[in-house]
Amino acid sequence: MKFSEQFETRFSEMLTHYPTKRSVLVPTLLYAQDETGYVSDEVIEEIARRLALTALEVRNVISYYSMLTTKPRGKYNVQVCTNIACMLRGGEELLEHCEKRLGIGHKQTTPDGLFCLEEVECIGGCSWAPAVQVNYDFHENLTTEKMDRVLDEYAKKGAV
Ligand code: FES
Repeated sequence: MKFSEQFETRFSEMLTHYPTKRSVLVPTLLYAQDETGYVSDEVIEEIARRLALTALEVRNVISYYSMLTTKPRGKYNVQVCTNIACMLRGGEELLEHCEKRLGIGHKQTTPDGLFCLEEVECIGGCSWAPAVQVNYDFHENLTTEKMDRVLDEYAKKGAV
């Protein structure tokens, strides 16, 4: 299993910031996922080995975080919050709109591999509900029209 030089630099640096190796598990998984698109079995084994954990311990952590995935998914992961604040301000309609527009449902990927869609719990943008997270970017105070513009932007970026 080979990661980039940038990954190795970040990994070595992170290890110096925490008292235990285990503390760097989540950021390490995120950096690895950024490189490989998802957390494969091979990545899990490698990270477990490096941090002196079992593969099961690593999998348990992955299952807790919706931003981590063990399955390949689209380039842009559209996470629509339908938790209470967002629900009261149109989050469910927004999700329905995304499903129609992208032609996919929860945890599915578009045939071109560009988008996948996920209904998620609170993403911390309640004051600006309804909120959506696409990879690491937040989009807030959304309407279906604004959501279309957001998706258009990603489609344009992804087509390059
Ligand atoms: S309820 Fe949607 S961001 Fe908090």
